[in-house]
Amino acid sequence: MVRSKRILFLAELTQGYNRVLDIGTDHGFVLEKAFEMGYIKKGIASDLREKPLKSAKNNLKNYPVTFVISDGFLAIKEPFDLAIIAGMGANLICDIMNHAPKEDITYILQPNEKTEILREYLMNHGFMIIDEYLIKDKFFYVILKVKRGESKLSESDLYLGPILKTKPESRLLFDKKIEQIDKIYQSADEKRKEELDKMRQIYKNNEV
Ligand SMILES: C[S@@+](CC[C@H](N)C(=O)[O-])C[C@H]1O[C@@H](n2cnc3c(N)ncnc32)[C@H](O)[C@@H]1O
Repeated sequence: MVRSKRILFLAELTQGYNRVLDIGTDHGFVLEKAFEMGYIKKGIASDLREKPLKSAKNNLKNYPVTFVISDGFLAIKEPFDLAIIAGMGANLICDIMNHAPKEDITYILQPNEKTEILREYLMNHGFMIIDEYLIKDKFFYVILKVKRGESKLSESDLYLGPILKTKPESRLLFDKKIEQIDKIYQSADEKRKEELDKMRQIYKNNEV
């Protein structure tokens, strides 16, 4: 089945891991692709709601997958070495990460927006970003690979990404961010304008 570039990229990132938990799996497309490519041995598909999980059950019926209704990690009992939380807002991903296991697990996090909020949360809650990727699909998507560990990020790192800022393709995203800032600037109040000025400088000054 043809899937979006974002789904394919998320599935690629499961390589090297055996037991993969997909939180908020919805249709189960990421696990489906990961199995199709032969990347993983076992899947745990979980969602907060029955309806999406039913759809995942249908798409993943030929694979060794456990299906769990769960709010984030809360009802997950089986072990896993990679957890994916993708296609949600940054604040929801932060809420879910509050209950991440203490063991040495890798996380693939893909917020739909406000990646800076997620990066700040990670730094303040004992996680470190070990890689960052930019996907241009229908929109730009930033994907973070994360483990437990100490990290210190500057304010510009929160916006640009400590690793993304070194990757040449990021210029496209940073230029898009400047365009978005310019669009909303005139209708912003003075306090917001100050923030937007600071953000514009951060996106503008980065040399990639
Ligand atoms: C927009 S879909 C994203 C689907 C898929 N992960 C992707 O990247 O394409 C978000 C899914 O997360 C589920 N969800 C929302 N909050 C959740 C939570 N606290 N725990 C588990 N799943 C949640 C929703 O029910 C929905 O199926």
